[in-house]
Amino acid sequence: MDNMNTHTNIETQPSELTRGTNVLAINASPHKDNGNTALILNPFLEGMKRAGAEVSVVYTEDLKIHPCRGDFTCFCRPSGTCIQSDDMDWLMPKVRDADILVFASPLYVDGVTGPMKIFIDRLVPLLQMYIETREGHSRHPPKDTKVRKIVLVSNCGFWEKDNFDPVIRHMRALSKNLNAEFAAALIRPHGTFLKSAPQTGLPYEDILEAAMRAGHQIVKDGVIAEETLAAVSREMLPYDTFIQVSNPMIGKLVERLGREEPVH
Ligand SMILES: Cc1cc2nc3c(=O)[nH]c(=O)nc-3n(C[C@H](O)[C@H](O)[C@H](O)COP(=O)(O)O)c2cc1C
Repeated sequence: MDNMNTHTNIETQPSELTRGTNVLAINASPHKDNGNTALILNPFLEGMKRAGAEVSVVYTEDLKIHPCRGDFTCFCRPSGTCIQSDDMDWLMPKVRDADILVFASPLYVDGVTGPMKIFIDRLVPLLQMYIETREGHSRHPPKDTKVRKIVLVSNCGFWEKDNFDPVIRHMRALSKNLNAEFAAALIRPHGTFLKSAPQTGLPYEDILEAAMRAGHQIVKDGVIAEETLAAVSREMLPYDTFIQVSNPMIGKLVERLGREEPVH
């Protein structure tokens, strides 16, 4: 959304300490930078850059990544290469080289989008096939990866924050298995109201500023303050109003998109 500016008073000089942190973000919304997910992801990444991180973002929409074939070849090969050749060929070295991985996905049927799940499944060669005991749990040892932190950025249509519980649980498990820290979840419930906020008059600038602050904090301090995360996901409108205004909006969409075309 072009008219949402994300200026904050965050210092813009990268600190010596944090220069060189590599961040790879995967945005799995089909709407890419026009989507609701990007409204939080992009200021978050901007905050990281301002703290001195090297940030790359890729969009699953632009990638050709085949689903895992489940044959275990990548797991067995020392190089970890897959029998399939696709965009994971060049993406995997970037994943291995990232200090922070950011998984950004809208909530689809209580989980990440299909393309994000395909990407996640293809991360198996970050691990060795052997099994060890880590923190009292059977896990695969990590292989040639420096990923230290994982962050989830997610957006959903429903009002409540608990809609993100399944995807947060997934990310927590994934982080443990990759031997990385699950550093934070930047969640934005009733996220569709963020996009329309400049038109509807709902206050929103503080949410974007908090997302940028979160990016700055994770690079500079290694953690994101609880208050910052709470500010990203703060209530934008009361539940009853959400129900009242959502259905007329949905009605308009049904009117616009819902006409049945004859099937040929
Ligand atoms: C196929 C599909 C499934 C969805 N499932 C959920 C869901 O389970 N819970 C929810 O709150 N929102 C759900 N949504 C709404 C999206 O999460 C929401 O519109 C989000 O803001 C879209 O982000 P984007 O604009 O970045 O793609 C779903 C949307 C689609 C298209």
